[in-house]
Amino acid sequence: MVTVMNKLFVALRAVRDMVLPESVYDFWCEELGLLARREQQVARAVKVVSETPETVSIWLKPNRNFKGVAPGQHVNVSFLVHGHRVQRSYSVSHVKGRLFRITARKVEKGKASSFLNNHAHKGMIFQLEDAYGDVTVSHFSDTPALFLAGGIGITPIISMLERWAVTFRAQPVQLVYWGKRAQDLAFVERLKKLAAEHSWFEFKLLETEFLERNADGTPKLFAETSAWFQELTEKLPSFNAFACGNDGFVHQIQERIAPWVNQFHFESFTPLVFAGEPGAPVQINLTRQQRSVFVPSGMNLLSALEKAGVRISSGCRRGTCNTCSCKKVSGIAVNQSDNRLHESSDSGFKPCTHSALTDMTLEL
Ligand code: FES
Repeated sequence: MVTVMNKLFVALRAVRDMVLPESVYDFWCEELGLLARREQQVARAVKVVSETPETVSIWLKPNRNFKGVAPGQHVNVSFLVHGHRVQRSYSVSHVKGRLFRITARKVEKGKASSFLNNHAHKGMIFQLEDAYGDVTVSHFSDTPALFLAGGIGITPIISMLERWAVTFRAQPVQLVYWGKRAQDLAFVERLKKLAAEHSWFEFKLLETEFLERNADGTPKLFAETSAWFQELTEKLPSFNAFACGNDGFVHQIQERIAPWVNQFHFESFTPLVFAGEPGAPVQINLTRQQRSVFVPSGMNLLSALEKAGVRISSGCRRGTCNTCSCKKVSGIAVNQSDNRLHESSDSGFKPCTHSALTDMTLEL
């Protein structure tokens, strides 16, 4: 009986594919709010939870085309913001079977994060891309793990902890979580509960508002003489460590922790925007779109192209997801993270991590 039903289903799909072109089929599914698509990966919001006044979590139920995501990975999602489609990359903060959760903290002038915090609702449809990211839950299966989270950098970490909360965990896990004030931080109550329920998990929360300051005004993440830090230091060589937070946070962790642990992984999510003041205009030739635009040299190229009205796919905006990659045919760019010149032709050029120094031709 099952075989007959399967054959019937396959036959019906074949008829559908002959009668309806993919674009028409997908268009009407979208109009009707259905998850069915020929190829496209989409998901529907099934639950929206306000974690803090500025942080929202959205549970997504993907369609059958979505290939799945592991705790620790990220997904590019796109959605309509007042009629315009925007795409962003989010770490998943929980994975439960096919369902997964993304968590967005409102950032100043952040079009997508503000929209999600103010307007995300049950039933909202998101387009998805394949999940990406190598630092997943399986990286920490056989060793003690040390997680270091700065603010919303907690998201990939809590997804791993949630997985371990339902599977056997033989190795200890220690989390140090920094943020301005406890009430602004997502998942604090959940983390306390996990620590109370699981002997493998220890959790320390540090409110940066009350920490000493470095000379540049940034909070001193480690009180070197404190008992907890001394204790942590002794255990460092046994840990595989993972830090996630903004650039400044990860930089401090790299200096103080990375040399002493067994393995160190990090993810830094501060978008790269400017490498200094925008300068004289340079001409960017877009071969596929058969047009040219002028953008300020020195300005982040992805932002500059968007500002000039160029539609360009993007996700993480920090060089990890590959979504914005295109071919640079000619021109000189500067990598904004290390100021290195990029002079050669390159088919994997990432506008999100570069600024233009000269006129340039891109296969866009
Ligand atoms: S947007 Fe992710 S690599 Fe550029």
